[in-house]
Amino acid sequence: MKKTILITGCSSGIGYCTAHALHKRGYRVFATARRQQSVEMLLSEGLESLRLDLDDSASIQQAFQDIMHRTGGELYALFNNGAYGLPGAVEDLSREALRAQFETNVLGWLELTNLVLPIMRKQGYGRIIQNSSVLGFAAMPFRGAYNASKYAIEGLSDTLRLELMDSQIFISLIEPGPIATQFRANALKALQKYINVENSAHRDKYLAVLNRLNKPGPAVPFTLPPEAVLKRVIHALEARKPQPRYYVTFPTYLFGFLKRFLSVRLLDRLLAKAGNNN
Ligand SMILES: NC(=O)c1ccc[n+]([C@@H]2O[C@H](COP(=O)([O-])OP(=O)(O)OC[C@H]3O[C@@H](n4cnc5c(N)ncnc54)[C@H](OP(=O)(O)O)[C@@H]3O)[C@@H](O)[C@H]2O)c1
Repeated sequence: MKKTILITGCSSGIGYCTAHALHKRGYRVFATARRQQSVEMLLSEGLESLRLDLDDSASIQQAFQDIMHRTGGELYALFNNGAYGLPGAVEDLSREALRAQFETNVLGWLELTNLVLPIMRKQGYGRIIQNSSVLGFAAMPFRGAYNASKYAIEGLSDTLRLELMDSQIFISLIEPGPIATQFRANALKALQKYINVENSAHRDKYLAVLNRLNKPGPAVPFTLPPEAVLKRVIHALEARKPQPRYYVTFPTYLFGFLKRFLSVRLLDRLLAKAGNNN
């Protein structure tokens, strides 16, 4: 029998690449997307696709029930992937903006995970893969909302791993640095929606942020294609004992190393510099 996997955020980037590659590899992939137009596109490309908007509990429940119906109540893996970045200084974040960031990046993932876990417990196996980020353990200026959401995912995943220790359900975090996707274009939309640049004490610094987000092609050095993440997803799915954490890209390895060995003050200086330059 084919292994089944539910993936969120398949309209572009890492989700899109992973859905197609795993389908080709023989998996039965449920490639979900929040917009109907993206679902139509994925269907036309030969994938099994359903609508799933992480901001909407009814849509999460509906997609989950549909998939359970189609598989007879089985699911091998969940790849929590759909998310976006809201750039902006912490002091410019409204309650509404931070809530929106957490609705998608944290609460939607948790709700879906908690639907899938009883199925995995019942069948006695399962894999949950969380697409976190280097920004899930290293903070950078003007990324507070996104940092906080990925730190939250790391905290929940680390706890869940302990709670699943006596089971055959494995949870893995993937921590990519820069990957060439629609991420920056979508971050720009979020910034325009939620941040009042003109009224900000950081007004001038936002020009650099906007420059970075508008720049065509890779914005920063060491950017890798989504296939770099795919490689770790395959390991997390197929290794007998998947790793709790997978680093992807040089910046993740670098900051992972520096975080272990530098003082907080010294690391802050490097992160501030890297964040402001990028
Ligand atoms: N690119 C990077 O440099 C990078 C680095 C580290 C981690 N990541 C992580 O990688 C994951 C995928 O991002 P990506 O780089 O592939 O960016 P992307 O091309 O922008 O893809 C993000 C996907 O998430 C979907 N999404 C957004 N809001 C959603 C919602 N409410 N419900 C369901 N899906 C939603 C988007 O759908 P729409 O098209 O409808 O907006 C899109 O399919 C994210 O978790 C991101 O945090 C990315």
